[in-house]
Amino acid sequence: MDVLRKAFSQQLDQKISDFVSSVHDDEALIEADLKGSLAHAAMLNQCGLISPSDYKQIKDGLEQILQEAKSGKFKLKAVHEDVHMNVEKRLQEIIGEAALRLHTARSRNDQVALDLRIYVMERIEVVVALLKALQLKLVEVAQKNSTTVMPGYTHVQRAQPILFAHALLAFVEAFQRDQQRFEEAAVRTKVSPLGAGAQAGTSLPVDPKFTAKLLEFPEVFANSVDAVSDRDFVAEFLFAASLTATHLSQLAETLIIWSTKEFGFIEFSDAVTTTSSLMPQKKNIDPLEIVRGKAGSIYGELIALLVTLKGLPLGYNRDLQETKPPVIHASQTLADSLEVAIIVISNMDVIAAKTLEAASDPEMMSTDLVEYLVRQGVPFRKAHDTLSEVIKYSRENGKKLSTLSLEEMKRFAPEFKEDVFALYDAKKSADEKISHGGTSSANVTKAMESHLRNLK
Ligand code: ARG
Repeated sequence: MDVLRKAFSQQLDQKISDFVSSVHDDEALIEADLKGSLAHAAMLNQCGLISPSDYKQIKDGLEQILQEAKSGKFKLKAVHEDVHMNVEKRLQEIIGEAALRLHTARSRNDQVALDLRIYVMERIEVVVALLKALQLKLVEVAQKNSTTVMPGYTHVQRAQPILFAHALLAFVEAFQRDQQRFEEAAVRTKVSPLGAGAQAGTSLPVDPKFTAKLLEFPEVFANSVDAVSDRDFVAEFLFAASLTATHLSQLAETLIIWSTKEFGFIEFSDAVTTTSSLMPQKKNIDPLEIVRGKAGSIYGELIALLVTLKGLPLGYNRDLQETKPPVIHASQTLADSLEVAIIVISNMDVIAAKTLEAASDPEMMSTDLVEYLVRQGVPFRKAHDTLSEVIKYSRENGKKLSTLSLEEMKRFAPEFKEDVFALYDAKKSADEKISHGGTSSANVTKAMESHLRNLK
């Protein structure tokens, strides 16, 4: 980048030049950089720092480069170090002299911070849209299987019957919080650093609020040193991405387990399953395993970013260049994982007979029998003890809980009546959980409707 080296008497060593260049990662930032420069040029014109005719040339030139970028014709050259100098060079080729005024009252330090903020904002929009699409898909599958009952689990042991839809909606809630996290991160991302210069601000009469407004950033930096060194928004994006990846991984793991022969709750179509090079019968749900695996690489990007930041002394440091790859990689990986999850779930069948059979294990209704006794006035702890004894008796005598006679039951508690046998019904068990947020059909139907209203 000889253009900036007039004070130097030697060329930059070739290996060093390649090493310090950020053009590879900057490919992702070209459009953001051009948007930022267009806003900056408009501000320079507005503030009388460039003439209207220079502004016109700069604007037309930048717009031409934007077109070239969109059609893949604008290639970054490592010799120009980064996207910023590549744009300036190309602009000079197109419009000549006027290009030399674009960088007035600006440094690459505030410029790159702005580019990254614009890029993160765009990625937040992409991720939030995909999160919504995934939620919609989950609600759709929940509605299609609204009467399906399955075992709810704690410790991966059968606990109490729940609606299959209720289980899917639990993931919808987690993805809702993820969306909120991205939207809250967006508030702190939409703060324009432009006008901070290299770190001190400028003696020229700039108007940072004007640029911020053009870029639809509601806020402007308060401190020029902070403006060029703050990458908190990247950390927040990566944390939100990591937690979303965690939820995706939990969803993937859950579906993988449910699709095993041992559970047999769901099946995936051939369009999303792979097979073995050795065992021709194998049908593996590899895409979900990779979604689960990708969480690791997204966490890695968060850690990489935090470690890059932690040792930095106050001010702009070139290490900050390394804050770009984590967000570029993680956002792409996350978007891919979300898309894959949507496709896989679209190719999923629920085997209601299997989930019902598993949910109909009479021991899963033990808590319903406890609550039956509580309704008759038995203190909860006593009722719990009574059921423990009934279960022990049934197990020791090799009798299913539901096959004990009323007479046998009465030996443990006189409060048991004929109507107790109606409790061995998984669907009824789920339906009776009418308490706030419980798994009753009424609650789940309301929840599905409310999610649909919010998502559409
Ligand atoms: N290429 C750098 C980056 O991507 C911006 C350039 C700032 N360079 C400098 N020497 N101040 O972060």
